[in-house]
Amino acid sequence: MVKLGVNIDHIATLREARQINEPDPVMALGILKEAGADQVTIHLREDRRHIHDRDARLIVETSFLPVNIECSINPEIIDIIAQLKPHRATLVPERREEVTTEGGLDVVKYRKEIEEILKRLNGEGVEVSLFIDPSREQILEAGELGVQMIELHTGRYANLHLALNSNLNRTHHPIFSDWDRERLKRELEQELRLLRDSVLLGKEMGLAVAAGHGLNYQNVREIVQIPGVEELNIGHSIIANSIFLGLKNAIEKMKRIIDESVKFQTD
Ligand code: PXP
Repeated sequence: MVKLGVNIDHIATLREARQINEPDPVMALGILKEAGADQVTIHLREDRRHIHDRDARLIVETSFLPVNIECSINPEIIDIIAQLKPHRATLVPERREEVTTEGGLDVVKYRKEIEEILKRLNGEGVEVSLFIDPSREQILEAGELGVQMIELHTGRYANLHLALNSNLNRTHHPIFSDWDRERLKRELEQELRLLRDSVLLGKEMGLAVAAGHGLNYQNVREIVQIPGVEELNIGHSIIANSIFLGLKNAIEKMKRIIDESVKFQTD
């Protein structure tokens, strides 16, 4: 079974577009449970652009499902996480000017800081996951640190998939714009191989392995079918589709695709 964490940040993004009180992300909790989600995921960003402290507190206090809070390694944010005590904290890199989390956390560079955070949060009963690029160096470092989980960044895979299957990415990601379809296909295959090898290495290091970023109904199958992936965290595409399908249907559709893909998982 591959678990589904639903990231509900963008319900709050919509609320912040008007800076009023709806839609309230807290109201999504019952629907997530009803729809068969396995986890609630939120990102408490330093700039509070979507999820606020009040949301995080109410979500941790009232969720029927385990809560995974994505956060930076900023000491003020870690203080809040230590008080909130969610089930898990996923440490991510954060830049104020970015639209979404770009790239994984540099575990080698921030080893000392992460080590202290790991000790502190584990001491509070909070599991720690690291959101990292599918890189051998990063995975080995995460394994040595002894975190509970790594989440592999699937953003590059998702962007390549989009570039191959739509015209959108040619404008959004100019880096791919010169590449013909054959090059895009090769790069996509290579990225998938890298993700497969990374999951394997993570498992060898004794880590639980999750994946996330940019996953949607079209590109999730190949990720589910990687042996050893045990959890996906998906936000934007589910919330986007919920506008047309309703949140419950949008989650159920993702769950269905994941469950059907698991049947074809190869070892
Ligand atoms: N996992 C992590 C660690 C993230 O930072 C994000 C984005 O907040 C996601 C998963 C979900 O990405 P998306 O919204 O593209 O599905």
